[in-house]
Amino acid sequence: MGENGSVTRRNFLAGCCAAMGAVAVGASAIPAVSAWRVASDLVFGLTEKEIDLSGIKPGEMKVEGLSLKRETLIGTDELVVPIMILRRKPEWVREMEAVKYNLKEPIEANERYLNPEWFVARAFCTHLGCTPNIIDESSKPVNIVCPCHGGRFDTVGRIISGPPPSNLYLVPYRFVTEARINLFVSTPQDITLTKVSAFQKA
Ligand code: FES
Repeated sequence: MGENGSVTRRNFLAGCCAAMGAVAVGASAIPAVSAWRVASDLVFGLTEKEIDLSGIKPGEMKVEGLSLKRETLIGTDELVVPIMILRRKPEWVREMEAVKYNLKEPIEANERYLNPEWFVARAFCTHLGCTPNIIDESSKPVNIVCPCHGGRFDTVGRIISGPPPSNLYLVPYRFVTEARINLFVSTPQDITLTKVSAFQKA
């Protein structure tokens, strides 16, 4: 691990929170999660995973675990990274464009998705690593809420309020068909992306 006890505590918290998240999203259970800091000397091989979107209704979020092999100084281990797939309702998209609100870390919404109907990101709160999996449709714009300390993000994962310091991280993916995406992760930097242009639009 190479870090002090606070990292251990984060790991514990992230595990607890991920477990809570698994309950909240029902069948989309995550078996295990480790909070994890990016270190440039850690390298993944290419990991890919296809996800079927066809069962996700408008307004629903699915959370899937992506298992990555991690090379460390003492060998290889497995890192399970929860990924959220949120199907945005058309009215959410329209409303987000119409409502004015402040962003802590401003970036254009269209830099955060390949298709406005679908938001794909790490389900990992940038505060302490919980799984932000509550959809609050009563707020304007509609919020994704973190259950641990109330961090609030819009439906493309931009932080609006609460303790998280930054937007949700993105992961590389592409559409295989209209109803399937393929996640592809090669390096630690791939799971701390902030905009889709870092991996696509090429
Ligand atoms: S872990 Fe999400 S707000 Fe604290």
